[in-house]
Amino acid sequence: MKLNNFSRLVLFAFLIMCIAPSCVKEGPMGLQGETGAAGKDGKDGKDANQTCKMCHAAGEVDLISTQFQLSKHKYGLAAFEEAGNTGCTPCHAQEAFKDVVARNVSSGFTKGSNGRFTLDYATTADKAYGEIGCSTCHSALHTTYGTSDLVFTTVKPVPMVMWGGKKIIDLKADGGKSNLCVKCHQPRPQTNLQTGDSQDYAAIAANPTGIAYDANANTATTNIVRPSYRMHIHYGAVGGVYAGMGGVEFSGTLPYTNSAHTTVASCTDCHMGAVVGRAGGHTFAAKGNLTTCNAAGCHTTAVTSASTTLWATPRAEIKKLLDDLAAKLTVGGVEILNRNANTNETLGGVNLWAGLTTKNYDGYLNVYDVTLNNPTLGSALYVNTTGPFQNPSPGSTWTAEQKAFNLTLPKLSLTNAQYGAIINFQLCLRDYSLGIHNYAYTKALLTNSIAKL
Ligand code: HEC
Ligand code: HEC
Ligand code: HEC
Ligand code: HEC
Ligand code: HEC
Repeated sequence: MKLNNFSRLVLFAFLIMCIAPSCVKEGPMGLQGETGAAGKDGKDGKDANQTCKMCHAAGEVDLISTQFQLSKHKYGLAAFEEAGNTGCTPCHAQEAFKDVVARNVSSGFTKGSNGRFTLDYATTADKAYGEIGCSTCHSALHTTYGTSDLVFTTVKPVPMVMWGGKKIIDLKADGGKSNLCVKCHQPRPQTNLQTGDSQDYAAIAANPTGIAYDANANTATTNIVRPSYRMHIHYGAVGGVYAGMGGVEFSGTLPYTNSAHTTVASCTDCHMGAVVGRAGGHTFAAKGNLTTCNAAGCHTTAVTSASTTLWATPRAEIKKLLDDLAAKLTVGGVEILNRNANTNETLGGVNLWAGLTTKNYDGYLNVYDVTLNNPTLGSALYVNTTGPFQNPSPGSTWTAEQKAFNLTLPKLSLTNAQYGAIINFQLCLRDYSLGIHNYAYTKALLTNSIAKL
């Protein structure tokens, strides 16, 4: 090994250090050597301002934030109303959503020490808040200040809470972006009255003549549900319908297949295309915008609200099936489904699906409730011409008068066919799109339900 001068020097110094006895006193310091030549200039650093500009530019974050003003994610009030509720906020509040994703919280049901099941899908009290905003979906914002900060909070397959996680939605188009939406836009479970576990939809579908609720045996251990005004699958029906999962699949003339959208399209294709009016981009809305049907090389002929085969005809058909199913859901001439023609925000209790059926059903049940469905309140919300039905679980705060009035009302028993048909009605109505999301599945659910009634 050839050593250069510097190495020799180092080696020499090392040897001296090794042999020198520790008692030897250090001599005076020698003269300082000449200053060496200046080193090469370092590479230019990144200008922080430049990486900020990647997002903080008129056409990026600024514009997107403006579009976002038109998104119900932004202006909807549920994030405020449900703050603090650990079961509601996983879909309604930012910190809770990020928490259930980060901890991979189960959508299953667990049996407690009291022998009853409860749903595991919940956040913790310290995370049950936060308006839905940019970092709900882009949870890595401001971590590296680079493009990777725009990754989505999750695109993983979604175990459905409706089924206690037993069915999994995985919408693969566009890198699974739809799974981000469906993590929140999915139906919530109906629970079994006896066990608290998620309702067994396959068993209900297999036994349509079975009794789901016997009003003359309110405490019978064979009742699997007790009807109330809010016996429902909640509002996020789209995810279940779009994926072709979540219905009570009664056997019948139509098979349960999916439209092409389920596999070839993604939520963003139709909901986040170019902005048109108050739809598209980060408004997330599809309403009033059919230009996306032709984008991404999907439909080759322009679709408008006047198009028959791709818009008007299938929508009219699904609307009629919803109307027909509602007409069959009566007991002793009293309608089971609640009507609500209110579209006036200031009155509260707006029917988000008004107009999708001829009689403006909202998916709730026409069951007496002193605050939610009380004909004596005379508001625009309670417009059924018949009913309501007797409530099998009167509230403890009801007055003696209200309890007595309840007893004068007709009783509502439900067969499995009726119970399943109500769930299917709610899913197909609250899907909003009258079959556009998944025409084949929607049509099969409604048609086969009608045949069972
Ligand atoms: C990957 C995109 C991205 C990059 C890069 C980025 N930001 Fe942001 N920034 C955002 C988003 C999104 C928001 C939220 C905007 C809103 O809520 O309307 C935001 C908001 C802000 C806010 C407002 C306060 C807040 O937190 O809501 C400040 C201040 C800010 N950014 C500074 C910076 C600076 C400084 C840089 C560069 C060092 C930077 N950002 C880089 C995306 C980015
Ligand atoms: C963190 C949960 C969450 C995620 C993720 C999410 N949403 Fe939402 N979305 C909601 C909630 C909650 C509302 C209703 C807010 C309210 O009313 O306060 C809503 C409302 C909407 C609405 C308006 C519905 C109406 O009644 O007008 C559309 C459209 C929508 N979301 C589409 C999407 C799309 C598309 C995606 C995926 C890119 C998505 N959402 C992702 C929770 C979520
Ligand atoms: C699995 C996700 C999920 C859970 C859990 C959830 N929600 Fe929602 N909720 C949604 C979605 C998604 C919407 C909006 C659907 C739409 O408009 O298409 C919504 C809508 C609502 C709305 C209607 C808001 C409006 O615009 O009128 C209310 C009220 C509401 N939820 C209350 C609750 C309450 C109370 C709980 C807990 C008991 C709860 N939610 C739990 C997903 C969920
Ligand atoms: C509900 C989920 C959600 C929320 C909330 C959300 N985004 Fe996005 N964002 C997405 C999705 C999904 C895409 C991809 C869109 C596509 O593929 O067409 C995206 C794309 C982007 C992009 C890159 C593509 C583009 O359009 O330029 C930016 C930048 C962005 N979002 C910024 C924001 C900002 C800023 C906010 C808040 C004002 C925000 N996002 C809120 C879901 C969300
Ligand atoms: C093939 C296009 C298409 C796809 C893909 C699609 N939607 Fe829609 N969506 C629509 C149309 C059309 C409507 C009804 C618009 C109207 O009433 O005029 C709608 C309505 C909605 C609404 C009611 C609010 C609104 O904007 O009208 C929500 C919420 C929604 N879709 C969520 C989703 C989610 C979540 C996904 C992905 C799982 C999805 N959509 C995929 C076309 C689509």
